Amino acid sequence: MAIPLLRDFDIRGKSVLVREDLNVPLEDGRVANSARIDAALPTIRHCMAAGARVTLVSHLGRPRPGERNPALSLKPVAKALGDALGCTVRLVDDWRNGAAVGSADVVLLENIRFEAGETTNDPALARRLAALCDVFVMDAFGTAHRAHASTVGVAEAAGAACAGPLLAAELHALGRVLDDPARPLVAVVGGAKVSTKLAVLESLAHVADSIIVGGGIANTFLLASGSQIGASLAEADQVDVARRIMTRIEVPMPVDVMTATAIDAVLPGRLRLRDEVGSDEMVLDIGPETARRLADQVAKAGTVLFNGPLGVFELDQFGEGTRVLAEAIASADAYSVAGGGDTLAAIEKYGVGEGISYQSTGGGAFLEYLAGETLPAVAALERRIVAPHRK
Ligand code: 3PG
Repeated sequence: MAIPLLRDFDIRGKSVLVREDLNVPLEDGRVANSARIDAALPTIRHCMAAGARVTLVSHLGRPRPGERNPALSLKPVAKALGDALGCTVRLVDDWRNGAAVGSADVVLLENIRFEAGETTNDPALARRLAALCDVFVMDAFGTAHRAHASTVGVAEAAGAACAGPLLAAELHALGRVLDDPARPLVAVVGGAKVSTKLAVLESLAHVADSIIVGGGIANTFLLASGSQIGASLAEADQVDVARRIMTRIEVPMPVDVMTATAIDAVLPGRLRLRDEVGSDEMVLDIGPETARRLADQVAKAGTVLFNGPLGVFELDQFGEGTRVLAEAIASADAYSVAGGGDTLAAIEKYGVGEGISYQSTGGGAFLEYLAGETLPAVAALERRIVAPHRK
């Protein structure tokens, strides 16, 4: 279904309230990873260049609703934004009676989760946010799966509401994977547990041509295919689910794996054939022959979806599977989309970002979208195409 887009609005001289996902990691009071800030910049610059008065709203972390936790202030984010934009970004804590952009180039509202009604989508808070703007711009794909006052409520209450370029780009990239992928579509899904990605795996089993599993998820599939996995992390109660997925879609099993008896930075990995894993060993990565075969498969793909590392890549001795696959995805001719914190960290570690067609800013939102769920904030924008606003 269609959603209104910012590019179709004349915002010259208007007040815009832009919901970004500036939920970035902080270390010692500074922004430790600016990927989400960087992704928001083009939208903010667009609004400024178009002559709008720009107010930004975001959450940071998960404060107790209504509690002003200084450690979760957006102050460091305002500083990083100002540095990146080369302008004043004024952090406004008390905006209940308005937040005049005035002398600042851009205003950033303090962590919206400091407001008691944010996560409950309180209509009064939504109306207060709507009163700040002529046009509400929803650009926070990473928070589009939350039905909160600053994502859904304000989109319903504002005089006009639309999707910003980042949200539109995210939906386009994921739509290209799920709705009309160049075939074959290969999904590379790693991570710790099947249960956390169950809905994603089930949904991908309907649209993908094959699913390459890695990490702890692969161990549950190995268990389901009757292999010995020793002391590996696996979910015995998900074995039936893994079998069901394997009957629906090709899930190549590793022929060799890297193991260790403990997850330890100095303990070297042992190469084992799949059926030779010792009872005291844990599978911590795919082996080199498996990595080579899977890389060949990825090289022939038309579309690749990458979510989750294939092993404990933080330790180099168990990072080779993730490195080889990440490099194969980056050098494939395929359209590739990657998402999830660990996945983007692996892409950065192996320096292959240039070769990935699209890197999503979404974590939970990325997974929910892949699982075929409706994102409430997107649904709210869809309703704005057909319904007038509610004040
Ligand atoms: C995220 O980091 O995935 C988003 O910012 C959403 O945060 P939340 O899970 O605290 O709602």
